[in-house]
Amino acid sequence: MVTGPGPAGLASAGSGPRVAVVGVHGHGASHVRNVARLAAAGRVRFAAVADPHPPDHRPEGVASFADLPSLLAATPVDVVVICTPIQTHVPLAELALRSGADVLLEKPPTASLVEFEQLSSVLAETGRSCQVGFQVAGSRAARTLASLVADGRLGELRGIGAVGAWVRTAEYWQRARWAGRRSLDGIAVVDGAVTNPFAHATAAALMVDGSARADQVVSVETELFRANPIEADDTSAVRTVTSRGTTVVTAVTLCADLPDAEPMVIVHGSEGRAVLRYPSDRLEVTIGGRTTTTQYERDDLLENLLDHRADPDLPLLAPLSETGGFTRVVEAVRVAPPPSEIPAELVRWEGEGPQRRPIVLEVEKSVTQAAEDLALFSELGAPWACKNNRTTKRSTDR
Ligand SMILES: NC(=O)c1ccc[n+]([C@@H]2O[C@H](COP(=O)([O-])OP(=O)(O)OC[C@H]3O[C@@H](n4cnc5c(N)ncnc54)[C@H](O)[C@@H]3O)[C@@H](O)[C@H]2O)c1
Repeated sequence: MVTGPGPAGLASAGSGPRVAVVGVHGHGASHVRNVARLAAAGRVRFAAVADPHPPDHRPEGVASFADLPSLLAATPVDVVVICTPIQTHVPLAELALRSGADVLLEKPPTASLVEFEQLSSVLAETGRSCQVGFQVAGSRAARTLASLVADGRLGELRGIGAVGAWVRTAEYWQRARWAGRRSLDGIAVVDGAVTNPFAHATAAALMVDGSARADQVVSVETELFRANPIEADDTSAVRTVTSRGTTVVTAVTLCADLPDAEPMVIVHGSEGRAVLRYPSDRLEVTIGGRTTTTQYERDDLLENLLDHRADPDLPLLAPLSETGGFTRVVEAVRVAPPPSEIPAELVRWEGEGPQRRPIVLEVEKSVTQAAEDLALFSELGAPWACKNNRTTKRSTDR
């Protein structure tokens, strides 16, 4: 379906770069709002959207297409925002880049290292830019913490823990065909707790360590579990060692008892400790027994991409190359054995129909302890992963 732009509206407001959004439902709705905001401010022209399911409320004057090929055939665009299922990221990004556009690509940028290398080659070939949708890269709290670590203000690093405990109901896993899948029709998806909803946790921890690139990750160990009837993991611990010798443990669950707690990245240093609450850009730093908590601002990733287009000397906040370390973690999860099912006696179910959800026994305590002790579930003796429980599988990628 193609609808032409109206005489007035966001498409014709201003004279800036022409921006299109691909994937307008789910998280894509926030990109539509953001582009509309920038168009209203005269910073961009909102050229078009593409989605097989047309938007419920199409911004005035913005053309709508069923897919990206028909959009690119009909409308010239300078920047394409891609917020579609993970397995579609690389083909869509490649199409947009080869058409001459720059791209803001949602995280995780790719579902495998091979795809990551393929996309990196397309960038090198086309000379275009790709910003990845890790908002945490725009967080001044995260950047401040990275500077504290780099300057040694927290002393020698014992390690970095990243912890997240959220509640997700059946509705979340049923919202789309790709949700909770490790692969679909033979194509890697890797939509588990570590690589999708809590992707920011690992990406932030690696960024804070100054180890965001692929060659800065030395090894990745995974312990993947699930309580939901899905293919992918919903309760997982991953230990990554970086080339500067830091141990990073990510411990996350989507089967928490209590409503969504704010995920945290915790830096353990010999001289101090810092806690980054990345969704709200709050940083708590304790040095010499004195704690200060600071609320920071966040830079918008699309605005940064626009600034970079105008002045290439201004670096992207989250270029694809700086998500290679995270992609090593995605790859380790992709090739790991399928998640172990958590024994039924350790899971309590609540709610009915779309609101039904599993609660894993003592899971909040275990993910918190893993991030504090920098240990995997099996090492902590988590009830579902204790050493004599034969379902524990650890996978190491070096
Ligand atoms: N940065 C963040 O905080 C954040 C938050 C949530 C989701 N995400 C990411 O956003 C992406 C989308 O996630 P979601 O949960 O919104 O997914 P979703 O399945 O709920 O929505 C995806 C949208 O893309 C559309 N779509 C599917 N295939 C398409 C195609 N080939 N061309 C055009 N449109 C297509 C669907 O119709 C749908 O509107 C994922 O990569 C996810 O990891 C990022």
